[in-house]
Amino acid sequence: METVLSIKNLTKRYGRLTAVNNLSLEVQKGNVFGILGPNGSGKTTTLGILLDVIRRTSGEFYWFGQEPTKEMRKRIGAILETPIFYPYLSATKNLEIVAQIKGVSKDNIDPALKKVELFDRKDDNFKTYSLGMKQRLSIASALICDPEVMILDEPTNGLDPQGIAEIRELIKSIAKDGKTIILASHLLDEVQKVCSHFCVLKKGTLLYSGLVDDIDKGIINVEVGAASGNLEEVLKAYPNAAKITEENGKFVVELKEGGAAELNKYLFENSIEASHLLTLKKSLEKQFLELLAESDNAA
Ligand SMILES: Nc1ncnc2c1ncn2[C@@H]1O[C@H](COP(=O)(O)OP(=O)(O)OP(=O)(O)O)[C@@H](O)[C@H]1O
Ligand SMILES: [Mg+2]
Repeated sequence: METVLSIKNLTKRYGRLTAVNNLSLEVQKGNVFGILGPNGSGKTTTLGILLDVIRRTSGEFYWFGQEPTKEMRKRIGAILETPIFYPYLSATKNLEIVAQIKGVSKDNIDPALKKVELFDRKDDNFKTYSLGMKQRLSIASALICDPEVMILDEPTNGLDPQGIAEIRELIKSIAKDGKTIILASHLLDEVQKVCSHFCVLKKGTLLYSGLVDDIDKGIINVEVGAASGNLEEVLKAYPNAAKITEENGKFVVELKEGGAAELNKYLFENSIEASHLLTLKKSLEKQFLELLAESDNAA
């Protein structure tokens, strides 16, 4: 495994507000890495710091194992907000201007336009494009530099369902070409559909980091107490138990599957009457959906 990005104890403060709080993360080559979090959780701030457009307060980050330099920045393509294109120029003309500014060959333009499926419309003026097409052209403008990493901030914001589906397919296809992708989103569904790995931010603090495949597995902890019987031994023999810890005379059982009801049934079958049974954690998916819904309500 090759580490593309490593973030260590990164913090960004705006006066009294901590936008990014002691964040540590690693992204490996080929990952489609989602940064998931509600509005104001620090996603854009984090991406801005990684791209050297926002100054960090403290902490470190390393691209390709090295301190960031201007030269290295060329290996990273980014779409933080829709770049400004000339409305009365075609896609090709607009990309020629970008190629000139970035010092890359114009030969890269056609393949990029094909990749984002705008080749058929390359001679049409930018102003005639739909929102989804404009977003795809932004992605093409990053692709002409053939970056190893693509950074996308809320790439489907404001698009209609078809536009959203097209962008998601495009991201997956760019990932298939071997590029590492870092994507910020406030949609769990988007992260589940597009990403291989993800982290969750809340108020700038990392809540979780792991594999997208683990989202629906979920982790449920059940706290159990019983006045009589050999609870510990019976719990240890429970096939669905992943981990058992003892706290204040009660046991906390991390479940591989099932919930408190199945556990209670098992205990009963093993002659233990639980005097206390409490589900401590919901599935990851539920947890994240609740977190993301909180911000929707606040907005
Ligand atoms: N220039 C700034 N000055 C002061 N506070 C800022 C500034 N930029 C961002 N913030 C604050 O930092 C926090 C994180 O903002 P950020 O834009 O990174 O969140 P986000 O996760 O990208 O949110 P969204 O989903 O709305 O895009 C917010 O509380 C925001 O108000
Ligand atoms: Mg943002």
